[in-house]
Amino acid sequence: MKIAILSRNAKLYSTKRLIEAGQERGHEMRVIDHLRCFMDMGTDNPSIHYKDEEFNPGDFDAVIPRIGASVTFYGTSVVRQFEIMGTYCVNESVAISRSRDKLRSIQLLSRKGVGIPVTAFANSPDDVKGLIREVGGAPLVIKLLEGTQGIGVVLAETQKAAESVIEAFMGVKSNILIQEFIKEAGGSDLRCLVVDGKVIAAMQRTAPEGEFRSNIHRGGSAQLVKLTPKERATAVKAAQIMGLNVCGVDLLRSSRGPLVMEVNSSPGLEGIERATEKDVAGMIIECIEKNAKPNKTRTRGKG
Ligand SMILES: Nc1ncnc2c1ncn2[C@@H]1O[C@H](COP(=O)(O)OP(=O)(O)OP(=O)(O)O)[C@@H](O)[C@H]1O
Ligand SMILES: [Mg+2]
Repeated sequence: MKIAILSRNAKLYSTKRLIEAGQERGHEMRVIDHLRCFMDMGTDNPSIHYKDEEFNPGDFDAVIPRIGASVTFYGTSVVRQFEIMGTYCVNESVAISRSRDKLRSIQLLSRKGVGIPVTAFANSPDDVKGLIREVGGAPLVIKLLEGTQGIGVVLAETQKAAESVIEAFMGVKSNILIQEFIKEAGGSDLRCLVVDGKVIAAMQRTAPEGEFRSNIHRGGSAQLVKLTPKERATAVKAAQIMGLNVCGVDLLRSSRGPLVMEVNSSPGLEGIERATEKDVAGMIIECIEKNAKPNKTRTRGKG
């Protein structure tokens, strides 16, 4: 098959591993920088222009989107254009957009009965105290909606700290959500890699001493972990609700069971492959082999 990886940088670990895994299985792999694509709409023959090339329906059998959070808007429009051209995309544009919107994700997960930390959000609450009460008071976690890698995630240990941090964020017109602090998680979270409706690898990330955020970028470390059946089922259900074939589901171990923190549509492969010694990239390619329909798309638009 001809498989395109939408990635800004062919040298990234995840991108390199996907190229390798695809080539090992006899596929033709190509890295395309989605920000350098431009698109033609309203014509009979939808296409994508890339540098001095033009991609037409059938040029690729499958697309692996690796869209960074900062370019979700443009990146998903490129994925959508491939969909319009009839190309199989391992994660669909609508699913990527859905999971990138933290509020929307939380609303969808809670509506379907998946455990999540008690979370409140408000645009401009007149009543900050009421908002804090909503999540059970301090200590609580305040998150900037556009934060990643742990930046913009603040633990407010007291009511006073919570009030002032919330007021400060609101004062600079930042979008935030307020969440109950899951103390018993002990500075750890679980990253579950879900591919094609199954958890294929999982690791526990643990924050360094004195830190509650387990992000590797904040100095967290990763270990192999055995999930409980409930944790597995929760991760699979979260992926299914988001409509993602490939994703990383982050869970907190709470006293009331696993709680979903986030579903990531472009999960990094380095940490999880190193911690588990599994060929996650290979399993993503296998998922494509199973679900993409090569010859059907190849002739589309050419007749
Ligand atoms: N409600 C909570 N209770 C306890 N710990 C939390 C809570 N929310 C977040 N954490 C810790 O903080 C870390 C960072 O939080 P989160 O994953 O929500 O933000 P982020 O990593 O900055 O965003 P993203 O995952 O979208 O890149 C988590 O991995 C977890 O260890
Ligand atoms: Mg995170």
